[in-house]
Amino acid sequence: MKALITGASSGMGYCFAKELSKRGYDLIIVARRKKRLEKLKKELSTKVEIMEIDLAKEENVFKLYEKTKDKNIDFLINNAGFGLFGSFDKTSLDKELEMINVNIKAYHILTKLFLKDFMKKNKGRILNVASSAGFLAGPYLNTYYATKNYVLKLTLAIYEELKEKNSNVKISAFCPGPVNTEFNKVAFGYFTIKGLSPEYAVNYCLNKCFKNKLIIIPGFFMKLGVFFSRFLPYKLQLKFTSGIQRRK
Ligand SMILES: NC(=O)c1ccc[n+]([C@@H]2O[C@H](COP(=O)([O-])OP(=O)(O)OC[C@H]3O[C@@H](n4cnc5c(N)ncnc54)[C@H](OP(=O)(O)O)[C@@H]3O)[C@@H](O)[C@H]2O)c1
Repeated sequence: MKALITGASSGMGYCFAKELSKRGYDLIIVARRKKRLEKLKKELSTKVEIMEIDLAKEENVFKLYEKTKDKNIDFLINNAGFGLFGSFDKTSLDKELEMINVNIKAYHILTKLFLKDFMKKNKGRILNVASSAGFLAGPYLNTYYATKNYVLKLTLAIYEELKEKNSNVKISAFCPGPVNTEFNKVAFGYFTIKGLSPEYAVNYCLNKCFKNKLIIIPGFFMKLGVFFSRFLPYKLQLKFTSGIQRRK
């Protein structure tokens, strides 16, 4: 068993690595901060390979696939991502384009290339870390919400295609609400609702993922919120999500 985890240097990616190693997986861990990955490797008992890669550059994502495609990976976790708080007329276009590269393009490319390989073997699992933001539009965290909508909707569509082909390849979307990671520090903001611990969120996610759940939402209130949000008129939903996030 071998998993490729992007964004393993902190937060949920770090916890995915720890938990999967505990469950016997060898790992390929990816991020830009190599020292963090080296520290993580020392804490793990299974075989771990480190890849220091900036996924904002499209060519690096293809290089990552080329370097790992023959390594018998059977679990891909697309997790690397970040947000940016602020009013759309004020936020940095460069940062948003970088976000689209990491949160959308890298997910899209790796999902497609590994999915094709997995389908040939009729075996393998993909977990795309989306967000509960993927169900909504998010004033003041606008581009981030849009990227997570992309990831969630792409994952749902692929799930149905795999099902209709009777494939053994599995795909899930992880859709947590706020989780206490480095997300807020990187995004220059904070959520007005309390976050879950990354250990709890990740453990919950993996248990559901191995049961082949399509949409995984940790926390009772977040599940409830996502369920009822579909009945809210758009303009009310926008007022609600606008209140949840604040710029520092
Ligand atoms: N925290 C939340 O409230 C929350 C809720 C729902 C979904 N999520 C999603 O969960 C995922 C993990 O985020 P987190 O909350 O754990 O935040 P985090 O602690 O900030 O971790 C983000 C990870 O992504 C990596 N990353 C960012 N840009 C990268 C790049 N250009 N190339 C390679 N790696 C990159 C970071 O590594 P380096 O900086 O070392 O490159 C880091 O390991 C993200 O997709 C996020 O959108 C988070």
